[in-house]
Amino acid sequence: MENYFEKIKKYLHNGHAKEMDNRIERLRMYIDEILLDMKDTQERRCGYLHLYGVSQTCAFIALKRNQDVELATMAGMLHDLHSYKTQNTDKHAEQGAVLARQILEELSLTNENETDLICSAIRNHSSKAIVHSAFDEVLKDADVLQHYVYNPLFPVMEHEKNRLQNLLTEFGIKPHQNDYEYR
Ligand SMILES: [Fe+2]
Repeated sequence: MENYFEKIKKYLHNGHAKEMDNRIERLRMYIDEILLDMKDTQERRCGYLHLYGVSQTCAFIALKRNQDVELATMAGMLHDLHSYKTQNTDKHAEQGAVLARQILEELSLTNENETDLICSAIRNHSSKAIVHSAFDEVLKDADVLQHYVYNPLFPVMEHEKNRLQNLLTEFGIKPHQNDYEYR
């Protein structure tokens, strides 16, 4: 990972980023190492797509709802990391929160309150039928929205339909016309 920041500077913001060394990028650098270590290239692809996708979608939703965009972006990066790292999805939200706390403490990126906020969102993110705190809801909705925008032609999973409909309404988006689920 030597020259990591120099390398990503070339590709992000057209090379004009003045300061890349912030908490989001420091966390991403750590997570990239875990993802790059995955032997299964298809799983690695899924890991990159989903974690970066949810992280970016978290930023989008957090900005709209006036939630902490930095912490939400970090929560998105961490939320399913345990599943990709271990290739085990048992109790993935709880296990994900444990790993997230371990990483945040190891990197000393966040204070106690911030760590609790991120880990709570990760612990609760599988409970899509329940409404938790406004910050927790950003991650749950980002998970659903990333699945949708990855490919709007795919059928929507049953347990994500209500949330997706609410998100599309919130953002004033008409579903893709091929999405038979919402015609
Ligand atoms: Fe997820």
